[in-house]
Amino acid sequence: MAETVILCSADEVVEGEIKQAPLPDGTNVALYRVAGTIYATADMCTHGEASLSEEGLINGKIVECTFHFGTFDVTTGEPTGMPCEIPLKTYPVTVADGKVQIEV
Ligand code: FES
Repeated sequence: MAETVILCSADEVVEGEIKQAPLPDGTNVALYRVAGTIYATADMCTHGEASLSEEGLINGKIVECTFHFGTFDVTTGEPTGMPCEIPLKTYPVTVADGKVQIEV
C-alpha cells in the first residue's frame, strides 16, 4: 500500500546537488532538481554499493556514479551509461506546503 513520506523542505533540493533523505524502511532516496522540477530515485547505485548522494555527480538530468562512472537518467531511472544496466527505482514526487513528499 502506498504511503506518503515527507522528506525535507523543497528549498533544500538545489540544482546541481544531490540531497539524501531517509525512508522509514532504513534505505535512502536521492533527490535532484532538474530544470526546476524535483525527482527522487533510490540512493544506492544498482551496480554496486555506492551512495549516489555521496559519490554521485549530477549534470542536467544525468547522475554519474563515480565508483565505475556508470550513469542514469534521474527523471526515469533508466541506465544511460555502462556498467549500469539495471534501472534505479524512482518515486513520484509532490511538493506541498514547501515540503517534498514521495509515495513509497
Ligand atoms: Fe555505481 Fe559501479 S557502483 S557504477
